[in-house]
Amino acid sequence: MELIPVLPHLQAVLNLTAALLLLSGFQAIRRRDVETHRKRMIAAVIVSAVFLVSYLIYHASVGNVKFAGEGWIRPVYFTILIAHVTLAAFSLPLIFFTLRRAPWPLLGSTCEPHRRVARKTFPVWMFVSISGLVVYALAFHLYPPTP
Ligand code: HEM
Repeated sequence: MELIPVLPHLQAVLNLTAALLLLSGFQAIRRRDVETHRKRMIAAVIVSAVFLVSYLIYHASVGNVKFAGEGWIRPVYFTILIAHVTLAAFSLPLIFFTLRRAPWPLLGSTCEPHRRVARKTFPVWMFVSISGLVVYALAFHLYPPTP
């Protein structure tokens, strides 16, 4: 079986996994369970890093995928796609600073700087994961590419 055509489906699974990890990590910190929060957020970072590698390999090998939808769906699709890609790029430094400012036990850092940046990172990252799933559903299932 060829690997490249499978990558968009793998990326959708990774996106969904990241969204679920983020949500449960957020619920964990709301109930003050720092250990679960830390583990879920680190898992979300790892899953998203695997997504990014897979995304880069896919687009390096197939280039741009032409969207097959016609009519009113095109501006809808491209608006979601542009918002998704722009916020995905923006989320990278946000995630970096959220981790950098996290209260790591050995560094003795405090919570407040983490919380301030994390409250921006969480909704942006969540939007990126969910809009990635919407783009995938539109481009590969509702308006599949013609062979
Ligand atoms: C990029 C990954 C992470 C994200 C997106 C994230 C997100 C968040 C968010 C949104 C809050 C605020 C919750 C609220 O105020 O209701 C928070 C709080 C917190 N996070 Fe994270 N977090 C991440 C990684 C970590 C890590 C790695 C640790 C531990 C080393 C950690 C420890 C904490 C703690 C202790 C709080 C509570 C802060 C307080 O009560 O002032 N987080 N995080």
